[in-house]
Amino acid sequence: MLRRATFPAGFVWGAATAAYQVEGAWQEDGKGESIWDRFAHTPGRIADGSTGDVACDQYHRYPEDLALLRDLGLGAYRFSISWPRIVPDPDGAINRAGLDHYDRLVDALLASGITPYPTLFHWDLPQWAQDAGGWADRAVIGPFTEYADAVVRSLGDRIGTWTVLNEPHIFTWMGNGTGEHAPGLRDPALALRASHVVNLAHAEAVRAVRAAAPHAAIGSAFNMESAYPATDDPLDAAAAERHHARVNAWYLDPLVMGRYPVAFLDQDAALASMDIRPGDMEAMATSFDFVALNVYSRAILAHDPTDARQGLRRLRGPGPRTAFDWEVWPASLHRILARVDADYGHPVIYITENGCSSPTGPGPDGRVHDVDRVDYLAGHVGQVARAIDDGCDVRGYFAWSLLDNFEWGAGYSQRFGIVWVDFDDGGGGRIVKDSGWWLRDVAAGRPLDYDDALV
Ligand code: FCB
Repeated sequence: MLRRATFPAGFVWGAATAAYQVEGAWQEDGKGESIWDRFAHTPGRIADGSTGDVACDQYHRYPEDLALLRDLGLGAYRFSISWPRIVPDPDGAINRAGLDHYDRLVDALLASGITPYPTLFHWDLPQWAQDAGGWADRAVIGPFTEYADAVVRSLGDRIGTWTVLNEPHIFTWMGNGTGEHAPGLRDPALALRASHVVNLAHAEAVRAVRAAAPHAAIGSAFNMESAYPATDDPLDAAAAERHHARVNAWYLDPLVMGRYPVAFLDQDAALASMDIRPGDMEAMATSFDFVALNVYSRAILAHDPTDARQGLRRLRGPGPRTAFDWEVWPASLHRILARVDADYGHPVIYITENGCSSPTGPGPDGRVHDVDRVDYLAGHVGQVARAIDDGCDVRGYFAWSLLDNFEWGAGYSQRFGIVWVDFDDGGGGRIVKDSGWWLRDVAAGRPLDYDDALV
């Protein structure tokens, strides 16, 4: 049945970006090299051979981008802080010029009436930290915590909400296991070990942020995809649960419950390979104030005995696909919200990323009619409203992304923005797409319906 969407008073409407994807200025004001600089500068790593050297040039053009947010009536901006801008060298010295940039950005946001939602780590690890072993070595925990502490002490008087990590599963796994992301390592055993270090560093950083900003709300953004069993067969259901455990819960359960979910057929062997030391399980657990979710698609899983580790295989779903070949399945957003609500004790939730890639650019009228993205957003925002009607405590929705930007291994070949960017113009020209105007209208209260029968 179709129902009219309503959003609670004070619901946060925003758009998101990440430092390496939009800032450019890769060598400016004392910034150090990040693993993404190194990776993108290595021939063959990025699909279109591009880099984030200039990207959207937001480092210089942020006043323009804040004006766009204002035009769109969005009250919140999620951005990330570049660790190598703040700590360029292994000696740990703070680069004041790097902090100053974010000082100015935060002040400009507040002056525009836009609430800043900074993320402390959105994948641009300093290259010096990678050279010391990266996320696979405990040596990273101290420097990460010190960096978090320095940033929060510097900006904390103006920040109400801190997001610590962005998508620990993706950066751990794709960076160290499959090699599609920086630093480009292809070692699944290393990735699994790194996941434990990430969980330890995560909890340590959350504690540091809490100590430095006792009144702020603290959480992290987890990529999640609802795991649908391929059939009613209990074996498929069990396979879907293992997928859920590895992708959705592996970095949240340790934080909340101090334990790992069962993700592997050989769970004991997996845990034994992770260098878990006495005291680690206690150290991994801490408290958080909200769960942030980045949701794009879903997964369909079937039991598969030929996969020794997880006993599963992913199937292709029947839904429409985005330009990135991700299945569009809006009900899966409702489903994962219900699951998180049930499993983690009715937490405060933010959707910190949701969106789709679409190549649509300016037409003859100079406007960008990205109808596919409007449909995508309408379906997904509607399912957020449905979850709220069901009782989930969802407080905000951030579109990914404010701008077309450097889409990691895909370079500029995938456009996720609600604003089109002309990359042939030094990261210059920007045109609000139809999807941006659509979001403005919905944020301003334009009626939207959702289907409460979708599964
Ligand atoms: C997420 C990332 C974000 C962006 C989108 C498309 O996994 O957090 O930076 O690349 O995917």
